[in-house]
Amino acid sequence: NCSLNTTTNHLRHVESMAVLPSGAGKIPRLNAVILGEALASEEDDLVFPSDDFARQALLPSAQKYLEMYKRSVEDPAGFWSDIASQFLWKSKWGDTVCSENFDIRNGNVYVQWFKGGITNICYNCLDRNVDSGNGDKIAFHWEGNERGFHDSLTYTQLLSQVCQVANYLRDIGVKKGDAVVIYLPMLMELPIAMLACARIGAVHSVVFAGFSADSLAQRIMDCKPKVVLTCNAVKRGSKVIHLKDIVDAALIGHSMVGQSAVLHIAYSFGILTYKKTPLVSKDVVPTYSTICEVEWVDAEDPLFLLYTSGSTGKPKGVLHTTGGYMVYTATTFKYAFDYKPSDIYWCTADCGWITGHSYVTYGPLLNGATVVIYEGAPNYPDPGRCWDIVDKFKVTIFYTAPTLVRSLMRDGDAYVTRYSRKSLRVLGSVGEPINPSAWRWFFNVVGDSRCPISDTWWQTETGGFMIAPLPGAWPQKPGSATFPFFGVQPVIVDEKGVEIEGECSGYLCVKSSWPGTFRTLYGDHERYETTYFKPFPGYYFSGDGCSRDKDGYYWLTGRVDDVINVSGHRIGTAEVESALVSHPQCAEAAVVGVEHEVKGQGIYAFVTLVDGIPYSEELRRNLITTVRNQIGPFAAPDRIHWAPGLPKTRSGKIMRRILRKIASRQLDELGDTSTLADPGVVDQLIALADC
Ligand code: PRX
Repeated sequence: NCSLNTTTNHLRHVESMAVLPSGAGKIPRLNAVILGEALASEEDDLVFPSDDFARQALLPSAQKYLEMYKRSVEDPAGFWSDIASQFLWKSKWGDTVCSENFDIRNGNVYVQWFKGGITNICYNCLDRNVDSGNGDKIAFHWEGNERGFHDSLTYTQLLSQVCQVANYLRDIGVKKGDAVVIYLPMLMELPIAMLACARIGAVHSVVFAGFSADSLAQRIMDCKPKVVLTCNAVKRGSKVIHLKDIVDAALIGHSMVGQSAVLHIAYSFGILTYKKTPLVSKDVVPTYSTICEVEWVDAEDPLFLLYTSGSTGKPKGVLHTTGGYMVYTATTFKYAFDYKPSDIYWCTADCGWITGHSYVTYGPLLNGATVVIYEGAPNYPDPGRCWDIVDKFKVTIFYTAPTLVRSLMRDGDAYVTRYSRKSLRVLGSVGEPINPSAWRWFFNVVGDSRCPISDTWWQTETGGFMIAPLPGAWPQKPGSATFPFFGVQPVIVDEKGVEIEGECSGYLCVKSSWPGTFRTLYGDHERYETTYFKPFPGYYFSGDGCSRDKDGYYWLTGRVDDVINVSGHRIGTAEVESALVSHPQCAEAAVVGVEHEVKGQGIYAFVTLVDGIPYSEELRRNLITTVRNQIGPFAAPDRIHWAPGLPKTRSGKIMRRILRKIASRQLDELGDTSTLADPGVVDQLIALADC
């Protein structure tokens, strides 16, 4: 059980707040939180910030939030331009702060923020902090996979290193607008490479270093980079992964040699033991000048591309631009984590995903924060490693994913309690819904019932947090992402796209843009409109299901499209299916998500073999290896279910609803199977369920 503050405490908490000005509430029922009304039936589920925490919080009350929220949606231009003015702009944006068409019925969808404003996000992350006297502050603490390997860079040192890579990139011909693919593990060189691209106006596209050569090649072919940045190898846990070989395989396998220059950034520590291929330009980068002129860019110039999975096999190149993304990531970071300059912040995400872009790199550095970067696996050499790192660097804000929380919870409290963790003050969760029992363990055991949890709902597409608690401002409910961030207007719609008010469940959409909105899918604006704006005209459709309780709290319930969320990684069922069917003995495959104790969702694949091929353990292993090789180890199916046939409608459509029920063994909930072309298939599948 959570150690909840009592109702008396709650009343004391709310009594200390002034009564809202009339009409201030855009958020249903949050007024009730302020006024201390209602919430009765969920009373036991409410977790209040301690008085001490609320007193020092940037946003100490729900009322203050409501005032700011109200302004953010009624006067977005004023609200966001006030915040944007705190950054360095070479010249300010024009009269129109935001221009958008979010309603597909009115023509093409577009979004622009701060158009005409000239800035540079790298300058705002680094030079601005150095110029304001924070040059000696630590920007990054880096902790290697092996205990005892660590390093750090001050803001001044980071700026120098970024400039050297930026100068190198310029020298080899990378110009404003050129794409640069970065395939690196969690070394400081990864955010350094991102910032170097931003400094010269190049568009980075980081590919998670767990992706296979084929996936890397697919992304390289789509965005046609001038250069690919990689390193020789990385050690993750006890395994050595030869990244340079994977890049070579991607380029050679797809006849791209000569089209992309490959820069090898030297591995900083322990490299000699991992080295396999010779480093071509190992000593080149440090010979470049540590001063590099900034390329000033328009707020709407592209900053990066990041590929993410959709419901078809082809990954989508989500494109973010500079100005709005900068303002949004900085602001969300500051408020959702109650950031103070004395904080030491650690986010366990890899820069290969959006969380590593917005909340390892840009958001924290824009705030001048000290960031911990960890190269290795969070349970290596044992499940106490995270808390060892927390104590070592005196981490105050710890941001991670529910899958890690669940896995550490399973390993037992002793690994946690043997470390002090007393520096911690705010915890964060992202990537998937956090189940209340994991929430409680995180809160009670890791945070010693002291630290609020910021359960942040957002997406690659949104650039930054959309629905998230502001610690200190209101009570939390374990498992709920609570209320929308400034400027975000979530709506829940029914199947027909009609907005539903009050307590309800449905599809989560967003009305009008926020500064961190993605602008398009690279090279495919039509897919952007079709995927996100056509399903429910008038809104951005998130692909998530959601409910809202009587107190207005939002509860995310998972994807409603053909995307599976495995350990917080988004994987399209179609991607896994096409990898499976590429195996010569696989005739057809259908993949569904199934509940998984640690990963949230596991990958469950129904596989039909080519006529005459017998089922075998070896073939099962080969099929799994095929997926690992084509996508990456994180996409390997947890289960292969032999399927003599798949349940299809007469028009040939696979009925995934039935497959999901079989996969989760909810056999009495199969529903109507009479519309299947061959209803007998279902019995055959059930008979083979445990083979
Ligand atoms: O389903 C939601 C889930 O992750 C999806 C976005 O995945 P991706 O673009 O890879 O970004 C992950 C990191 C932001 C969403 O559509 N999701 C993310 N955060 C949460 C979540 N589901 C519930 N609660 C969250 N806090």
